[in-house]
Amino acid sequence: MTALLSVSGVSVSYGKVEAVRNVSLEVRTREIVTVVGANGAGKTTLLSAAMGVLPLKGQVTFDGVDIARLDIEDRVASGLSLVPEHRELFATMTVEDNLELGAFRIAKPVAAQSQERVYTLFPRLKERRKQLAGTLSGGEQQMLAMGRALMGAPKLLMLDEPSLGLAPIIVADIFRIVGELRDAGVSVLLVEQNAKAALGIADRAYVMELGEFVLDGPASEVARNEAVVASYLGFSHPA
Ligand SMILES: Nc1ncnc2c1ncn2[C@@H]1O[C@H](COP(=O)(O)OP(=O)(O)O)[C@@H](O)[C@H]1O
Ligand SMILES: [Mg+2]
Repeated sequence: MTALLSVSGVSVSYGKVEAVRNVSLEVRTREIVTVVGANGAGKTTLLSAAMGVLPLKGQVTFDGVDIARLDIEDRVASGLSLVPEHRELFATMTVEDNLELGAFRIAKPVAAQSQERVYTLFPRLKERRKQLAGTLSGGEQQMLAMGRALMGAPKLLMLDEPSLGLAPIIVADIFRIVGELRDAGVSVLLVEQNAKAALGIADRAYVMELGEFVLDGPASEVARNEAVVASYLGFSHPA
């Protein structure tokens, strides 16, 4: 199967410091791919570069098109969407208005359809549509950030640490919805420190350490790898 997103030999630097080094990765259609790694491994840097927020060396193709030099707007228009690590909602605006901002480039009738889809995925957002984003719980804010990113009907959703700061039961809820997205035909690139939850839902996984991928494979195999268990999964993971 051809890749939807293909990252090949990509490096990203902050000045002289190379935070991502010669990384290659693929996300295929209807796949959840995860990149797991400790804080500071380079996960956010990699997503930022794929989105066009940071310049990169190397090749990135999306849906068969070379996007490595495209600006952010053109990447969004081609079907790529990023939910940033800190969610970046407009706290003093309502749920509904935050969603609308995710649809500013789409025609009104299409946006209305997108909104209905988002409310079907996240009934909680519909209940709270008149509530200010800043007054939502952490889990609801993550749902809103995902909902906003989905308003443009992306082909690939990139999620940067969606589980950050959330209770396990809420994480389970969010990850269940990630699975539903895949079933609905959206591919997902999921970046997580929470390796246990991410490997539990992903089809394939890459392990990132100090800017490089050190291991990859089917998520179920990566989850059984002894070094991964020792470093990221601790004793609670079943042998
Ligand atoms: N804006 C920045 N300027 C300089 N160095 C940065 C910047 N952002 C991140 N870094 C460094 O790049 C490395 C990777 O960071 P990051 O991509 O945020 O990792 P992760 O998302 O895996 O926690 C770290 O060493 C971090 O300190
Ligand atoms: Mg990060």
